[in-house]
Amino acid sequence: MKVNGQHFRTVWMPEPGIVRIIDQRRLPWAFELIDLHSVAEVADAIRDMAVRGAGCIGATAGYGMALAACEAQNMAQLDALAQSLIETRPTAVNLAWAVNRQLAVLRDQPVELWPSIAKREAEAIADEDAAACAQIGVHGLQLIREIAAKKPGVVVNVLTHCNAGWLAFVDHGSATAPVYATHDAGLKIHVWVDETRPRNQGARLTAWELAQHGVPHTVIADNTGGHLMQHGQVDLVITGADRVTRNGDVANKIGTYLKALAAKDNGVPFYVALPSSTFDWRIADGVKNIPIEQRGGEEVAWMEGTDANGTPHNVRVVPAASAVANYAFDVTPARLVTGLITERGVFAADEKVLCAAFTDAARASVL
Ligand code: MRU
Repeated sequence: MKVNGQHFRTVWMPEPGIVRIIDQRRLPWAFELIDLHSVAEVADAIRDMAVRGAGCIGATAGYGMALAACEAQNMAQLDALAQSLIETRPTAVNLAWAVNRQLAVLRDQPVELWPSIAKREAEAIADEDAAACAQIGVHGLQLIREIAAKKPGVVVNVLTHCNAGWLAFVDHGSATAPVYATHDAGLKIHVWVDETRPRNQGARLTAWELAQHGVPHTVIADNTGGHLMQHGQVDLVITGADRVTRNGDVANKIGTYLKALAAKDNGVPFYVALPSSTFDWRIADGVKNIPIEQRGGEEVAWMEGTDANGTPHNVRVVPAASAVANYAFDVTPARLVTGLITERGVFAADEKVLCAAFTDAARASVL
């Protein structure tokens, strides 16, 4: 994706020993890159959400393992560093997937070859993520074309939640890939962007990247979607996912489930876009089995914004004496999902369909 006309990925290795990321904590107020020099710094960046979003976390962890391959002298040390990365965030499965993929390629290799092997694998993980998201765009565009054909010349309205854009991946995004592809194909598209409290990934990140790409969009308070759907102002919902079980249950940013319920009640198609690295083939029943991250209460009690001069400030928005809870994700049951947009095509959220579509090594994955 381009920022002020220059192409960027969200994470890359400019030279051995350095992982460079876009610091998402500073967006949209400032576009800053930071360099990470150790596994500990990579772990901190993921935990503190300098990088966030399933694919971006996975790719960053993949590069983190390239640093681990330089730091570790033996397999026990490498396993410990891998564990320190996996423990940073529990819900997005791409993280463990990327780390375990690195462990699998390094395990039987001589220690002196680890740095070069791990760097190559990290680059493969990042390249595959970008390629998968580009394909999600191709399949999603087809879906949107079908909807657009039923209302010729009239704008197609998509609602999205959180940020499943290119910032949440290496490039293109998952939920936004079909949006960008539609816009680039010259069709009229408009996006309703849920602000996505408490961290405001929609208001801060999705809105910023849609604006960078010139896609018409409107930021709405989180509770607005149901009203818009009742009044025919949403043609389809597309969200991302942090983990999808083999029966098609979807863990995504808190609030996604409520949008899916509203979509069902109003006959609005509810699609989830994901690369296959976001499937967790080991589990069914996401409500029971997907660990839901609970984060610090300060993310709910405080908000960041700028004053009229553009200077960022934190303000408290909850009385100091009140307790707060911060569940970061929820699970949308497969029965509420119209389809899963993947790099291999659009599939029903159904165990038989998904297992037939992903029969190979992808499913026997390293998790
Ligand atoms: O907590 P975050 O910002 O890492 O949350 C992840 C997300 O951005 C969303 O849940 C997103 O829709 C799926 S990740 C592509």
